[in-house]
Formats: sequence, structure tokens, C-alpha cells
Amino acid sequence: MIGNQPIGFFDSGWGGLSILKTARKTLPHENFIYVADCGFAPYGDRSHDFIVERARKIASFLLETKQAKALVIACNTATAEAIDSLRRQWPQAIIIGVEPAVKAAVALSKNKRIGMISTNRTAQSERYHRLLERFGHNATIFSQGCPGLMECVEAGEFNTPDTRKLLHQYLAPMLEQKIDTLILGCTHYPFLSQAIEGIAGPNVTLYEPSLAVVRHLQNRLADINALKVNGVGEETFYVTGLTDHRKSVACRLWGKTTLFENLEV
Ligand code: DGL
Repeated sequence: MIGNQPIGFFDSGWGGLSILKTARKTLPHENFIYVADCGFAPYGDRSHDFIVERARKIASFLLETKQAKALVIACNTATAEAIDSLRRQWPQAIIIGVEPAVKAAVALSKNKRIGMISTNRTAQSERYHRLLERFGHNATIFSQGCPGLMECVEAGEFNTPDTRKLLHQYLAPMLEQKIDTLILGCTHYPFLSQAIEGIAGPNVTLYEPSLAVVRHLQNRLADINALKVNGVGEETFYVTGLTDHRKSVACRLWGKTTLFENLEV
């Protein structure tokens, strides 16, 4: 039975689709349920208590109502603020988060000068500072909170003049510092890669962690023999505050027309 249970994912909006897309390629047989908490987004400047409360409600929907066999917090901000509480509340569950990839970026960088862009909440979080202490000591890391960027993705403005202007404002100081690697510390930002590369130029390598997250998920499920090994996997999307505009942006990001259900939690 457990192999056939779905895997749950959530984010404050559509950013987590950057993780879901990699999961779909890597785990073609699995059924996925994705919750986009658009009605309560963005999380990036909310309080710790607000984010924990949202994460608990969505985790309860996915783990209890939908009987998900694993939960992926496809959001750096919710991981930073809420993963410890969720693991305390559901100690038996497989709960996987996503964090700024400091370790991988330090290994990748040649000049050991690295930028990290994320929400304010992630950049200021204790978990991120612990990552810097553990893995960042051999490098100089410039961290930048970027309010407004996730909204560009949610609005479907992936490479417009306004989006590029905001990106330029956030990236210019770290580009002056001659970074050669840029950590995308928010799951929305891979959808801005083209615009970011246009500003950062060919000497800066972008790093986003979706493959590492999905491999970790795959290993955890394999360890307990819970991978689904046949059949074509399906995705179901639930959205708080569902609107036509949100649907159309999601279809552009996901790459195909899909059905969405409004969720009230
Ligand atoms: N996608 C999210 C992250 O990875 C959060 C964006 C937001 O809600 O501010 O941090």
C-alpha cells in the first residue's frame, strides 16, 4: 500500500514547481500532490509563527487527509522556519526540506566568492546561519534578501524590464564583489534564471538544489522500500485563493494544462 501513496509538496506559491519538475523527471511512477499557498503568500517577510501555522495546516492536509508517504517542503523559507516543528509533530513521517546550497556552492566555486539570494526570512534565519558556520568558512559569502522577486514569478513576469530592474538592484553589489557562483536560495528563482544570467553574465554559475533534494527523497523512500515502481505518475494541484490568473501562470510554469482545486485550510 505505501508505495502507491502520494508524495506531498508545498510552497507559498508556484516556486516549488522547480522542485516538482525535477521530481517528475526522476520519479516517473510516483503520484504527487502539490499545494500552492497563494492565498497566504508571500512567506518571505512574515513572522515565524505565521509560517509555522501555515506549514502545520498544509502538512496536516497532506500527511493526514491525503496520507502522503513523504512530505517535501518545497520552500526555503518554510524549511527555515517550520521544518523542526513539523518533524516534532509528525516524528514518524519522512519530511524533507530545501535549504540554500552552501556546501555545494563552496565546492563549485573557484575563487570562493559566492552570492546567495533568498527571501529576507531565509537570509536572517538561524538555520541558514548554522549552514554558513558549518560549510561556509572557506569562502566569502554575500547574502541578499530579495523582497518582491517571488511576486515577479507569481505574476508571470519572468524576464520583463521591471523584473530585470529589481534583479539588477539586488545583484549589482555582489557582482562588484566578483562572485563566481550564485546560490538560488528560493525555489521561485530558477524561473528567473534567464533574467539572472543576462545580468550576472557568463562568469557566474547559478546553483539550484532541486536535484539534490529529489535524490535525497528517493533515497529515503528506497530505504523503507516505499518507491512506486510502475505505472504513470499523476499530479494533483491544490491552491489556496485559486484565481484564473494563478492557474494560467501555473500552467506556463508547469508546461502543460492541468486541473486545479481550491483548498481551504
Ligand atoms: N519559494 C519560497 C522560498 O523558497 C518563498 C517565497 C515567499 O513566499 O516569499 O523561500
